[in-house]
Amino acid sequence: MDDAPAFRWRGMMLDVARHFFSVDEVCRMIELFARHKMNLVHLHLTDDQGWRVEIRRYPNLTAVGSIRRRTVIGQESARPKRYDETPYGGFFTQADIRKIVAFAARRHMTIVPEIDMPGHMAAAICAYPELGNYPENKVEVRDCWGISYQILSPRRSTIEFMQNVLEEILELFPSRFIHVGGDEARKDEWQICHEAQRIMAEQGLRNEQELQSYFIGEMGRFLRSRGRRMIGWDEILEGGLAEGAAVMSWHGEAGAVAAAGLGHDAVMASKEFVYFDYFQADPAHEPLGIGGDLPAEKVYRFHPLPKGLSEEEKTHILGGQAQLWSEYIPNLSHLEYMAFPRACALAEKLWSPEEGADFVDFKRRLDCHRARLAVMKVHAHPLP
Ligand code: ACM
Repeated sequence: MDDAPAFRWRGMMLDVARHFFSVDEVCRMIELFARHKMNLVHLHLTDDQGWRVEIRRYPNLTAVGSIRRRTVIGQESARPKRYDETPYGGFFTQADIRKIVAFAARRHMTIVPEIDMPGHMAAAICAYPELGNYPENKVEVRDCWGISYQILSPRRSTIEFMQNVLEEILELFPSRFIHVGGDEARKDEWQICHEAQRIMAEQGLRNEQELQSYFIGEMGRFLRSRGRRMIGWDEILEGGLAEGAAVMSWHGEAGAVAAAGLGHDAVMASKEFVYFDYFQADPAHEPLGIGGDLPAEKVYRFHPLPKGLSEEEKTHILGGQAQLWSEYIPNLSHLEYMAFPRACALAEKLWSPEEGADFVDFKRRLDCHRARLAVMKVHAHPLP
């Protein structure tokens, strides 16, 4: 029987920054996703709470930036805040990364690395304070969830530092797409920092959104010069999209629709349908989670192709992916529980044509598929 995927980008994002997962654990997830005909794992390698990939030129990124002093206990919003007072760390050496990439390649899987900038960078600024807007301020690797106020300085030396980081990332990851983040970058520091304001004026930029586009654009230019392509979260649209940049649309479809309309590629990653850190059943009976409401039945209603696109625009929708943000996912068993069986529903939506998709039929087949998951000892959620 002929069979071919509906979409080219059939992805899962693993967040190894908030909680770290070992080479074996990441490879286990790659294996499971490959068996579901996924072809891509997006590794979120850096965040405020930890830097998780060795960069030879800047050893403090991991020596200092991979370790947080302690971690918040329970819900981020709980007051008073309580901490475990236990240092938490972990990172991949470059040899580790090569193992992961090779393991994935043998399964026809691409690993797309993400270095999230210019926000979500507290760990890097802790390791190298000169990257920040206020090098004299002491910044810690973040010990709770949420987003920090720290943002990279747009000065030339910081841009070059990040390009040097990307240079090593390119050596490790053959992926055509390299993810530069761009999400949730708070502009408070840029608004008050004289140097950032001076750079904005010098570059003829009207606001901090355009300053972010300038920063991200410098990464895009660098990646293009190396024959790669940049992808970023949909906030990279805000101050104007860099040449050739692809957009990962997480605030619903809007980012993907806007990108496709501008002739740019997009990946659908909307929080409403494919944020697998969200609860999949009644939170009263679930382990601690970030919030949300995303049963497998809703994942099955995910439409990677937004409605109303022209034939030309449709060609720009590369596919979709789910996000396993790991603030509340401390170990592999829990990671599997959040991933499955929702990843089964997503896999079908990314492989099979939309016509004929029927959740009742899917559920019947899933009941049989559970035997396979059981053989692979996957700790899957019992619903639906
Ligand atoms: C995101 O959820 N901050 C992309």
